Amino acid sequence: MSASSESKRDFVSSELGTKDYWDETYDREIKSFNDFGDVGEIWFGEDSQERVLDWLEDCDLVTTDDSVLDLGCGNGMMLIEMARRGYTSLTGVDYSQGAIELAKAIAEKEEITCINYQVADLIAADCTQKYTCLTRQYKIVIDKGTYDAISLIPDSEVEARQVYLKTVKHLVAENGMFVITSCNWTKEQLLHFWKTDFELFEKIPTPSFQFGGQSGNTVTSLVLKPKP
Ligand SMILES: C[S@@+](CC[C@H](N)C(=O)[O-])C[C@H]1O[C@@H](n2cnc3c(N)ncnc32)[C@H](O)[C@@H]1O
Repeated sequence: MSASSESKRDFVSSELGTKDYWDETYDREIKSFNDFGDVGEIWFGEDSQERVLDWLEDCDLVTTDDSVLDLGCGNGMMLIEMARRGYTSLTGVDYSQGAIELAKAIAEKEEITCINYQVADLIAADCTQKYTCLTRQYKIVIDKGTYDAISLIPDSEVEARQVYLKTVKHLVAENGMFVITSCNWTKEQLLHFWKTDFELFEKIPTPSFQFGGQSGNTVTSLVLKPKP
């Protein structure tokens, strides 16, 4: 994935910002799951998922009974792993029907029953009234790659990101946290965009690279808290 003049990285709109792309992807992945048991892509790799989950486990602010919402959950592997780690109140939403079908099929095969899945478009204007899962607040709200995908929407990405911010603000409980993992935006860029309503609580360490005397991260994971 890769977007706008505000970006240090070269950010251009792309097919990854379209619903058609995701619908086709998950149609393929469902077939592959049915034929070969392959769960499909874990975006940014299993390590980035583990780093977020390990941080949650170590931070002392979270219990396994806390409510969790995964935004743009895809195949739901983050939630599956959370269920394996003992979390009991898990919800995943994605606008692609195929993603939700795949996620439900994987959970069923794993005999995991504590995950509630719903198809929901997180940038639909009335989404926080329209979809039951989005009418309430959650202690832990997770985004891995979904803000990135929304940032790639052809023609309207800035507008779409603003709607997404409003949606996320509505969903994170006052004492809750928003854990965002991005490969398109740097820490500074994420903080710049989200600062109207969120502040940095902690940056989850991710591997860094050195190039031309500068260091950077290929993936950025931040824990943000809603501003009072
Ligand atoms: C890069 S994938 C990440 C999937 C998953 N979070 C993971 O880490 O494996 C981005 C996901 O966001 C979903 N998505 C994109 N725009 C969305 C929207 N407006 N509402 C809900 N889901 C969306 C896509 O269908 C896709 O599953």
